[in-house]
Formats: sequence, structure tokens, C-alpha cells
Amino acid sequence: MEKDAVKLAPSILAADFARLGQQVAEAEQAGADRIHVDVMDGHFVPNLSMGAPIVQSLRRVTRLPLEIHLMVTDPDVFLDEFVEAGSDSFLVHWEGNANLHRTVQRIKALGKPAGVVINPATSASVLEEILQDVEQVLIMTVNPGFGHQHFVPTTLSKIHRVREMIEKMKSGCDVEVDGGIDAKTAPLAVAAGANVLVAGTAIFGESKGVAAAMERLRAAIP
Ligand code: DX5
Ligand code: ZN
Repeated sequence: MEKDAVKLAPSILAADFARLGQQVAEAEQAGADRIHVDVMDGHFVPNLSMGAPIVQSLRRVTRLPLEIHLMVTDPDVFLDEFVEAGSDSFLVHWEGNANLHRTVQRIKALGKPAGVVINPATSASVLEEILQDVEQVLIMTVNPGFGHQHFVPTTLSKIHRVREMIEKMKSGCDVEVDGGIDAKTAPLAVAAGANVLVAGTAIFGESKGVAAAMERLRAAIP
């Protein structure tokens, strides 16, 4: 993967919510490619985060695409209000969704790109039948629910497998990774085949500021 082809998606879960607009503006100025919004309902994952009103506010302060990572029990229920709020794309989990194809079709009917997400214990093989219908695959490199966790190293071989599947079946589909991405793990994920890196703590939790943190991440990619 060419260094310039790797996209950065700052996750606002790690941002200072009292200064959210400012932090997103800093990320945009520093060359972020999209903003990753983690939506958690306290059921699908044991944590609560944010809903459509945050997207509505962010829409007014950034031109960057807002990608919505839905960690909720019934994603279909929330799609309309997130689109109305100004969301640009959706990432929905394979886990717990008995009608994933229907969810993906609903996202497409709303005119938005869809991505499918798989957790660390889920095999890449579950993607085979849905790959043709999505624009993106998100491989969780931690168990979803919280920021600031350690990268799960066994996901590296899965990133590689997913990249191979995509080259065979649907080239152009993004391979995104999420969780524990920092200057140490980013080069490993990119070498394995990832081309979009979500990072929360490594971007918003750095004492030297958002721009310096993003520069550090970019510099770490070979
Ligand atoms: C975790 C979320 C991640 C989280 C990543 O469930 O999906 O997007 O914000 O945070 P870091 O980069 O701190 O691991
Ligand atoms: Zn996420």
C-alpha cells in the first residue's frame, strides 16, 4: 500500500467533547480524510456514546465525510435520522444482525455507501456473500465498545486475508481498521493490507495536539 493512499479517520470518541468543533477543525486542517463517529447504545456494546444530534452539529463545522460506526442492537431504526443529520456513510456489524443484507440495502436506498464490520473473533469468511454489496470492510482490531484499548495482534492475518479476498472479488473496496491504532501498530496494519486507519487516542489523546499526532501517525507508515 502506497503511503499517500492510506487515509486517516480520526475517531471523535477520544476527543474533548467540550471542544469538539475545534478539535474536528484541527483534524480537518491537518489533512484528515474523514471523521469516524462511534455510536453505542449500551446493549450491543457495554457503553453509551453519542447520537444523531452530534452529527447535526458537526455537519455545520466540517466538510469532511462523517462515517457512522453503528454499535447498536438494531441499526435499521437509526438510519433515517442519521442521514437527516448529515451522515455520509455507515458501518454496520455482521455480529448480531440476522438481516445484514437488508440493512445494507436500506443504507443504499438512502443513497449512502455501506461498510460491514467484523469483530476480532469473527472469521473473514463471513464476508464472502456480502462483499459484492458493500464499499468498505472494517476490521475491528480491538473488541468494540471502548477507546484506548490494545491492538489485538491476531487480527493482522485477517487483514491480510480480507485484502486478498477484495483483490479477487471487489477491488476498490476500502479495508479499514479500528482500535489500538498508533505509531507502532499503524505500519503493521498497512503492511497487512489496510488502507484506512481509524485512530482515537493516538490523535485526540496526544499532549502535543491533533496536528502533531496526525503527523506522527503518517510518518510511521512506511
Ligand atoms: C471502539 C471504537 C473505536 C475507538 C478507537 O469500539 O469503534 O473507533 O474510538 O479508539 P482508539 O483509537 O483509542 O483505540
Ligand atoms: Zn469505531
